[in-house]
Amino acid sequence: MKKRIVSGITATGKLTIGNYIGAIKNFVNLQNKYELFIFVADLHALTTNIKPEILKKNKKDIMALYLAAGLNPKKTTLFFQSDVNAHGIINWILENQTTIGELSRMTQYKDKSKLKKNNQNKMIITGLLTYPTLMSGDILLYNADVVPIGKDQKQHLELTRNIAKRFNNKYGKTFVVPKPYIPKIGEKIMSLTNPNKKMSKSSKIEKSYIALLDEPEIAYKKIQKAMTDSENKVYISEKKPGVANLITIYASLKNIDLKKAENQLKDLNYAEFKKEVGNVIKKFLINIQKKYKIYHKNVDTIAIEGAKKANKIANKAIKNIKNKIGL
Ligand code: TYM
Repeated sequence: MKKRIVSGITATGKLTIGNYIGAIKNFVNLQNKYELFIFVADLHALTTNIKPEILKKNKKDIMALYLAAGLNPKKTTLFFQSDVNAHGIINWILENQTTIGELSRMTQYKDKSKLKKNNQNKMIITGLLTYPTLMSGDILLYNADVVPIGKDQKQHLELTRNIAKRFNNKYGKTFVVPKPYIPKIGEKIMSLTNPNKKMSKSSKIEKSYIALLDEPEIAYKKIQKAMTDSENKVYISEKKPGVANLITIYASLKNIDLKKAENQLKDLNYAEFKKEVGNVIKKFLINIQKKYKIYHKNVDTIAIEGAKKANKIANKAIKNIKNKIGL
């Protein structure tokens, strides 16, 4: 039997090239070897107080981008998280297997709640704290063996593993303890305006990210303006996070390793180097956007089919879990 993979992307903001390199690309590469359940995490998006019409648009865009990137609904079950009610039930059950201490130690929670605290008018939404148990539920519900994610989600997966082990010890073997799959190249694509920070789809600085739906010409220009350093020499070094980030993006999109990418680029000055990276990104965006337009009209049908399959597995899991805990 094939091992199982589960992963998802939160429906906030515009998907970036970081989401593609850190996650989607790996889903596609793994889809022949594993049984995949890939969803749009629309319930997760509620922690941001997102406007209904924006959430509706984001959901469909992400599904269309999954398809455009090469996920094949004949091989991979694609669905919207909120179409499977079991995600909400397991979240509640797992919240009761987790402590506030554990949840408040999550880096993402600390970062996001700090931002809110600095802004006196904003309250911290409870979902921001409990979000990792919903994510754990997403994974454990399907007994995933492997979870492809970028580096920023590693801590949430560690928590998921702890919850799974804890539950199994308490109630008998119920969950598979999942392993993370973090890509060797591009585990954390950095912001173009501040290469010490992660490239993020919820950033307010448009120049800091390449969105998968950016006009290719605009994306090209963003690369020309990306922050580097004053050395004008192209090589990978911890001291050159901006240059290293652009080389990483180039290597991942060309499917070559970092050493090879570095060799191909090392004789260029920064203007030539940025042109080269910009052109690779432009070509990639033109291609994915062409497919995105074609696939967009199939999104609803595919999501309905996917939810049927996901519901079958998730409902069976919930029945088993309920029985174990005495509900
Ligand atoms: P999200 O929506 O923030 O990001 C989706 C995926 O993209 C990866 N990623 C990156 N990888 C490399 N460089 C970057 N700059 C970058 N930015 C994002 C993330 O690591 C992630 O893999 N909670 C999750 C979504 C989720 C989930 C799940 C994932 C909900 N349930 C169950 C796996 C399994 C999130 O907010 O990811």
